Amino acid sequence: MPPRKRKTISRNKKGEEDKNSKESKVVSQPLNNDALSTSPTTLKDNKAGINDIGDLPGIGPATAKKLQDSGFGTLESLATVSIGELVAVGNLGEATSRKIIQAARDALDFGFITAEEVLERRRNMLKITTGSASLDDLFGGGIETGSMTEFYGEYRTGKTQIAHQLCITAQLPREMGGLNVDDNEPVKVVYIDTEGTFRPERILDMSKRWEGDLNIKKTLKNIMHGRAYNSDHQMVLAEKVAKDSQTERIGLLIVDSLISHFRAEYVGRGTLAGRQQKLNQHIHTLLKVAEVGNLAIIVTNQVHSKPDMFFGDPTAPVGGNIVAHASHTRVYLRKSKGERRIARIADSPLLPENETVFAITSDGITDVG
Ligand SMILES: Nc1ncnc2c1ncn2[C@@H]1O[C@H](COP(=O)(O)OP(=O)(O)OP(=O)(O)O)[C@@H](O)[C@H]1O
Ligand SMILES: [Mg+2]
Repeated sequence: MPPRKRKTISRNKKGEEDKNSKESKVVSQPLNNDALSTSPTTLKDNKAGINDIGDLPGIGPATAKKLQDSGFGTLESLATVSIGELVAVGNLGEATSRKIIQAARDALDFGFITAEEVLERRRNMLKITTGSASLDDLFGGGIETGSMTEFYGEYRTGKTQIAHQLCITAQLPREMGGLNVDDNEPVKVVYIDTEGTFRPERILDMSKRWEGDLNIKKTLKNIMHGRAYNSDHQMVLAEKVAKDSQTERIGLLIVDSLISHFRAEYVGRGTLAGRQQKLNQHIHTLLKVAEVGNLAIIVTNQVHSKPDMFFGDPTAPVGGNIVAHASHTRVYLRKSKGERRIARIADSPLLPENETVFAITSDGITDVG
């Protein structure tokens, strides 16, 4: 889908509309999205009336267009890119790239802020309900936006089912645990499917629970599905989301599963370094999307067994340190009796190592009845 172009209204230092400014300029602008614009920097922070990339010193309309086409259409995206990346992707010289990045950082006032301000910003983070009150409690209210949550576990433990259910709940109105604030500009979900297990029929079944609150036909329309056939394809799809999230109201990005292609393509010890390097790059893209666009990122992951482990659970998530350090919250899923599953917070900067039971039923993810 082509990015929507918006007419920008330049504002002066006091935030009032500046009549003398370049009103006729059409530049893609980050969404003034009350639901989702709680990223570390917001336009309110901007200095000297710089509201979009076209206002940065030294950027003319041609460069602005070039940057936008390369996925750097917002001040946030420019302020957080590395010089090397901008040179490579933006097709600009090193000195120009350095200047542009610095100017974007100055405009957004990138630097240190007090812990109190961090707390205030974190209060604006949104939570998406899982559809199970006990799971939501485990997550301190739901799946957080602006961060990456990893679900790992053996086959049939419910990773894909949870991902399907979140495609629906993210679209609920905010007061019901979703991200939606305006039906005219509904929140979208992107599903990167590496295993071919995405089933819209299952989403239709699950969404019946919210029939009165959601237009079920529209629910499917707001889910963008991308089937990734190999790791390169997966990376390209994630980069596309990074670009689209600057102009579209995307609230949730799912990658199911994160590593299967990387594992299948890089076999043998000698290829491990190459695999981890590529995986690192992919995860970096995902984290940036989460933080800059304030999206919730959900990734699923497989487990491998640790034969040298004599006590406790001998399974561990695959992907090594790179995935371990990147996931803000890691959730371990295991099977219990029948439709019951156990979810345990395995790692979180905030939540205790707790566990809870939920169920996978024909209605979707629910509390145990
Ligand atoms: N329509 C349904 N009604 C009830 N339970 C269902 C339904 N569809 C799937 N399930 C349950 O979900 C389980 C599959 O879960 P899921 O596909 O999420 O596993 P997974 O963790 O993604 O596994 P894998 O590692 O193989 O991808 C099934 O075994 C079944 O118990
Ligand atoms: Mg699955």
